[in-house]
Amino acid sequence: MKLVGIAGSVADKSYNRLLLKFIATHFSDTVDVEILDIQDVPMFNQSDDQTDSDAVQYLSHKIKQADGVIIATPEHNHTITAALKSVIEWLSFKIHPLSGKPVMIVGASYYDQGSSRAQLNLRQILESPGVDAIVMPGNEFLLGEVKEAFDDQHNLKDARTVSFLKETLEKFVKFVKVINTMNGPAEDDSWKSEDLEAHGKVETTIEGVNMHAADWVEQAAAKTNAATGDDYVKLDRGVLTVNQLNYFLNSMPMELTYADANNQFIYYNHNAEAKDMMAARTPAQAGNPMADCHPKRAIPHVQQVIHMLRTGKTDLFKLPVPGNGPEKYIMHYYQAMHDAKGDYKGINEFVLDILPIVKYYLAHTGQVLAKDPNAKADAISGASAKSADTKPDSVSGASADAVPEQPDEVSGASADPEPVEPEVDSISGASGNDN
Ligand SMILES: Cc1cc2nc3c(=O)[nH]c(=O)nc-3n(C[C@H](O)[C@H](O)[C@H](O)COP(=O)(O)O)c2cc1C
Repeated sequence: MKLVGIAGSVADKSYNRLLLKFIATHFSDTVDVEILDIQDVPMFNQSDDQTDSDAVQYLSHKIKQADGVIIATPEHNHTITAALKSVIEWLSFKIHPLSGKPVMIVGASYYDQGSSRAQLNLRQILESPGVDAIVMPGNEFLLGEVKEAFDDQHNLKDARTVSFLKETLEKFVKFVKVINTMNGPAEDDSWKSEDLEAHGKVETTIEGVNMHAADWVEQAAAKTNAATGDDYVKLDRGVLTVNQLNYFLNSMPMELTYADANNQFIYYNHNAEAKDMMAARTPAQAGNPMADCHPKRAIPHVQQVIHMLRTGKTDLFKLPVPGNGPEKYIMHYYQAMHDAKGDYKGINEFVLDILPIVKYYLAHTGQVLAKDPNAKADAISGASAKSADTKPDSVSGASADAVPEQPDEVSGASADPEPVEPEVDSISGASGNDN
């Protein structure tokens, strides 16, 4: 998380700047704090507008880029310093980089109040119109007796103070995430427009043939006078007969599925009978709209995956399917297909047991599989604690929280050993238990 720190002091030697430096170095594993100087910011004077000056623009740019702001305020005369107030006036006069920005206030002073009155005043200033910062309620850090607080290495001496500071900082990090999510773009639910019923059509849609017909392939072939048998088909890198195409595709070591841009399942390679397939399919399913091929609970996941591929959010989506024990590690890959112009043409889904490849690699490089003590996932089943409680759809392998972001490539799926009784998915038809 990227934060900027502003010390409200222009003194050459400032305890508040020292406090920010301590936060930046001591908690660098939690936050990335960049300290901004205000020494060069001219005193606010609206008659001599310096909004476009380098000093003011530098601050504004850095604040806008940051996820949040930490202001370390001294206390002068029971309030904030003139320098800090002047900066805030520049940043609320014609530009408003603090608007909606999560802010944390800390402060150090000579005496035991730890700039408490200044901090209180600063909250009011930051929440005033034109500034409109979002100051974290409470979560105060008041460093009193500051002259005795740091050691020669500029580290805070008192361990309790350090752990209290850590606590307030961690709370602020959570606060920043909440605020930035709140400020962020509305959840993109455009995926809901993915029509898995294939009501639409694309230039290759074979109209006038019932998509649900068990002999859709035969009807569609007749309707289009499709090439068959020893008819030659010109491909972009060769000429094959239809028979040769079948030999070639059916000998692939993975199960292939072609779903077009209209979300119609129009082809799969016949490299095994359904009962022996990793994701069982039957000829009667060819032609079906995608909606027919997935259990109801998987539909939103499938829509999100397809939409990511259609909109180019990703070109390849990978998903391990659980429940295949230690002897197999079945992966579903969803590859977006595009024409020469880059237009989306559908999904090439290929299903593969990658364990033989892993074993071959290990054997031929003299290596063995070892458990990674830090791994979140079980090296054998690939289960992660997280996915343990969300029953994945063993057909598409998706678990409730696995989609849409790229699921954890290792776990993605549930280690839940007990067989999942999935409804048969007519596209992948995968059931972790079939094998
Ligand atoms: C003009 C002036 C007013 C001050 N007023 C207060 C005050 O009201 N309360 C307080 O605790 N410290 C006060 N101090 C002492 C500051 O706490 C002390 O200077 C502190 O170091 C300022 O922070 P800095 O080192 O980051 O600049 C004041 C200091 C100055 C120079």
